[in-house]
Amino acid sequence: MKIMNRENLQTIYQCQSCGNESPKWEGRCPSCSEWNALVEVPKRSSRKGSWINSSPNVSEELSKIQHHASDRLDLNLGEANRVLGGGLVKGSMVLIGGDPGIGKSTLLLQLSNSLAEKNKKVLYATGEESVHQIRLRADRLGITGEGIHIISDTELPYIMHHMDLLSPALVIIDSIQSISTDNVDSGPGTISQVRECALSLLRWAKTKDTPVLITGHVTKEGNIAGPKSLEHMVDVVLYLEGGSLGSYRLLRGEKNRFGSTNEIAIFEMRDKGLAEVLNPSEIALASRGNNSIGSVVVPIMEGSRPLLVEIQALSTPSYLPSPRRVSNGVDFSRLLMIVAVMAKRSGFNFAHQDIIVNVAGGFRAIEPAADLAIATALASSLNNIPVRFGMSALGEIGLGGELRNISQLLRRVTELNNMGFDKILCPSSFTDTPEMPKEIEIVKA
Ligand code: TYD
Ligand code: MG
Repeated sequence: MKIMNRENLQTIYQCQSCGNESPKWEGRCPSCSEWNALVEVPKRSSRKGSWINSSPNVSEELSKIQHHASDRLDLNLGEANRVLGGGLVKGSMVLIGGDPGIGKSTLLLQLSNSLAEKNKKVLYATGEESVHQIRLRADRLGITGEGIHIISDTELPYIMHHMDLLSPALVIIDSIQSISTDNVDSGPGTISQVRECALSLLRWAKTKDTPVLITGHVTKEGNIAGPKSLEHMVDVVLYLEGGSLGSYRLLRGEKNRFGSTNEIAIFEMRDKGLAEVLNPSEIALASRGNNSIGSVVVPIMEGSRPLLVEIQALSTPSYLPSPRRVSNGVDFSRLLMIVAVMAKRSGFNFAHQDIIVNVAGGFRAIEPAADLAIATALASSLNNIPVRFGMSALGEIGLGGELRNISQLLRRVTELNNMGFDKILCPSSFTDTPEMPKEIEIVKA
């Protein structure tokens, strides 16, 4: 008689929102606090053996490991290359997250085409669209499609079979939530499926030294399904954002094992796909009005690149017992601090004023370097005095009311100069260097 191994029968409870595992059922996930998200799943024995590209049981001295000159694939799309830290690292797994309809599939088809144009084979597996739909999109983008191999399927083993057959230079899986494998009982899109599929793909990427790009939809809470379990697994997490930016899209690095996460790339969605925006400051300032009461432009650093954003402040008499403070794109506690310092050290009376601070165009200015600009915009709105159109303000505000110097001053000032600004309000500790543009007037505050 066959005796069942008790070990195999054990089950655990897994949160379908964050992937956290728990030995007993609970109404609320102890990790992400989501209600009713725990589902009973079979407990599986842990994997044995090595799956990353190395020989088992032999350790290698770091200095003896060869460095490949062509470790990165040039994507032929400068903006995407920069966000990835200089191209796509071979054998890496990249997750691109974003709202449905934001343009992930479009971006990936364009990336596929850039590689295909360099005579590299790309396998594009889609679980969401038919091959004809991809053909239509390609026509719209003006892509002939040579070198791009499409499969429309949701079964991971079948897709992986084709990955092995074709040995492409890049694999694209659109989207991870739409594919599934038989190893797991639950349906596509559940945390166990997403995790299992991602793990199989990751193993393949590392053993074949081929990059795999996967897309993931963002849930209504703003997470990629199973964010915790996926984000720590993959090498790079990028988000494609838009929404408040109209036809502009930001590709933002969230995690990058091979580069900085501060980089952003800006694209514009046109009728022929995503086009790179090479001078983003222009778009951030494009619809800046002539009324400059409460409006100050500040250069913020997005990775290595300065971006000019417009800070708008509105201060109006409040009829509420506790006046409102609203911040969009600006750190809320930073705003409270600036208002408090202005009241205490400079005598600005915001006591009976509602305050709204906004960064125009849906951008963000969460650096302390924007403090002085926020304060200037607030003071301008409170006193109804316009700020000079070509003037910017740069500096961090301390609790004592002092102005502190900021990093990357030269880059910021150069960007302001390039965009035609002629006056900057700066901390008195500002140190002039020979490289500073001479046309711009520095006012030390
Ligand atoms: P898509 O790439 O399908 O989004 P996702 O894969 O993130 O769900 O993009 C769909 C949107 O992009 C759709 O609303 C139409 C728009 N679009 C353009 O404006 N221009 C184009 O050339 C293409 C292909 C799409
Ligand atoms: Mg899509």
